Amino acid sequence: MIVSPSLLSADFGHLANEIEMLNVSEAEYLHIDIMDGVFVPNISFGFAIMKCIDQLSDKVMDAHLMIVEPQKYISEVKAAGGDIMTVHIEVCRDPKNVIEQIKASGMKVGIAIKPETPVSVLTDLINDLDMVCVMSVNPGFGGQKFIPDAIGKVKELKALIKEKGAKTLIEVDGGINETTGKQAAEAGADVLVAGKYVFAAQNPLEAVSSLKRLS
Ligand code: DX5
Ligand code: ZN
Repeated sequence: MIVSPSLLSADFGHLANEIEMLNVSEAEYLHIDIMDGVFVPNISFGFAIMKCIDQLSDKVMDAHLMIVEPQKYISEVKAAGGDIMTVHIEVCRDPKNVIEQIKASGMKVGIAIKPETPVSVLTDLINDLDMVCVMSVNPGFGGQKFIPDAIGKVKELKALIKEKGAKTLIEVDGGINETTGKQAAEAGADVLVAGKYVFAAQNPLEAVSSLKRLS
């Protein structure tokens, strides 16, 4: 399993320590949640902070953009160290064009779907995608409860990827802990995002390892 700790639940007053801890963890990715207060009812942090995070981190920067008009910020995400740029399908009027632009920037491309968005919106896009992020909470906040319907969506997505012969990774984001992570893994998830489960743990390194062991 690829583990992508979400910094949203980190101690922002000691961000450098938190990133150093993750550098020695078994996580491969570092999940960065960018919010605009428009697409979601919350605002997190922007590209200047993301760039500082990137300079401290050894991990693959997994940038999850919860913003309207994400295509306007592709060069900013790239310049801030983004390796994978994931945008929400719900805000893309021309998803193929946005996907092409992200790829042209040199980043990998992901599409995220909110809990109410069906997997079928991805049918004609799946072969162009490096990753799909299945949201298992309503985007905007860390520490929410896992929505079990996400499991069915992961299974459906896995079947679509197989049918189309795609190489797309399935990421599951929201409410992941050892129990929900296991369910997601069994349904076909390749990447687990975890915020509160990692940062509120007594032993964050062990929390990362417990997800890493799932397959
Ligand atoms: C929610 C974010 C998530 C969030 C996950 O909108 O996209 O990445 O930080 O946090 P947990 O794992 O605490 O649900
Ligand atoms: Zn996220």
